[in-house]
Amino acid sequence: MFVFDPKINKDCAAHRKALRKILPDGLTLVSGGVEVARNNDVNYVFRQTSDFLYLAGVPEPNYFLMLDPKGGRDTLFIPRVDAHHRVWLGHVPDVTETRRTYGIGDVRYTDELPAVLKKARSRYRAVYADGGALRRLRPHLKGLKPRPGLLDDALQVLRAVKTQGEIELMRRANDISREGHVAVMKTARPGMREYELQAEFERTCTRLGLRHQGYPPIVAAGKNGAVLHYHHNNQVIKKGDLLLIDAGGECGGYSADITRTFPVGGRFSRRQRDIYAVVLEAQKQCIDRARPGVLSGDLHYHSMRVLADGLKDLGFLKGPTDDLVYGGAVRLFYPHGLTHMLGLDVHDSLGGRKRQVPCPPHIRVRFNARLEAGFAITMEPGVYFNPALFNDSALRKKYRGQIDFKKAESFYDFGGVRIEDDIVVRPSGPPLNLTSVPKEIDDVEAACGY
Ligand code: GLY
Ligand code: MN
Ligand code: MN
Repeated sequence: MFVFDPKINKDCAAHRKALRKILPDGLTLVSGGVEVARNNDVNYVFRQTSDFLYLAGVPEPNYFLMLDPKGGRDTLFIPRVDAHHRVWLGHVPDVTETRRTYGIGDVRYTDELPAVLKKARSRYRAVYADGGALRRLRPHLKGLKPRPGLLDDALQVLRAVKTQGEIELMRRANDISREGHVAVMKTARPGMREYELQAEFERTCTRLGLRHQGYPPIVAAGKNGAVLHYHHNNQVIKKGDLLLIDAGGECGGYSADITRTFPVGGRFSRRQRDIYAVVLEAQKQCIDRARPGVLSGDLHYHSMRVLADGLKDLGFLKGPTDDLVYGGAVRLFYPHGLTHMLGLDVHDSLGGRKRQVPCPPHIRVRFNARLEAGFAITMEPGVYFNPALFNDSALRKKYRGQIDFKKAESFYDFGGVRIEDDIVVRPSGPPLNLTSVPKEIDDVEAACGY
């Protein structure tokens, strides 16, 4: 069994070193998250900010991190907790224990920050501080020019390429989430509510050591599967429904992001199988092509092409594939991106300003970057039958020669199919696929266990 270990992110020292190398000439200040009150004495569940996890690995609130490259040290500032608070909070580590736990040589209490800053700031003209640090420490930053944009961009640049320790955490998040997905496939029965399957997923993750989800699980039966970020999760699951579940646990802050679509009842119907096979083919082709130098936007367009061809074979679309793709008809069935970066945030760093490749006019994607070894990204094509698009009169007029709207309407109860895996681009050859949840038709049916 896996138990969360705060020392688990072995790479924070390397992350700080890399940041100091990009920003050698300023004082860097990063604030950890603060708790947010929900009411009276109750706070919202605390989740550390991703940049702080990246640099310090500390999951607790109210910390600060200072990088002082000219002074030759990194300092972690921890809250000083008095005996009264220990009555409510239990054990709170002191500086000695924190030093040992996180491997940061210089650990002090936050009430020492003003004095430390007073000494350190004379060495610099600029301060690379995030918004929280600027807001809370401004009176102690006299004489320093704030450069929050440069800090943010440097972190975006670094966080895009995952280190070995990060990949291990993502693998762990994936392995445990796999157990959750398989448990859901085995548990699903007609008559259940969608939230019962959400509970099964979260229970499995928690039992195996993942205390947080990377995002609220999407558990969508039948027509709800067409709603991309469906969140109600409260409808009754019917016999013959497809069940789309998009869920991933978080390990040391690193998220899995996995979608599977399976037949409640354990056997795909003919029409479910046909659509599923088209989506699976698009996903497999795109995974195989995810190699260094390839543009994520081109991969997205490849997925549109495969889906357009498949939907043509099934009679939903007609006309030359390029017209369906560049003219946008296929987007009614596939109204989202193929891929996004994944890491400490489920929609992670875009890689920094310099990595953004402008899209030519005929290509419209939000994430257009040349893939590099170490990028962790999702691969998630889908096909959906969402009335919000197919009932739109302007779209019906525009695409009446290319889309069989009558046929699409007859699939409104079908919902949608999405298949989503998490991959890491390798220096050469096909990527590492972190996701091992069954996805071949026979394997999904076997996992459903009827
Ligand atoms: N889970 C949200 C997404 O797949 O992007
Ligand atoms: Mn995703
Ligand atoms: Mn997802």
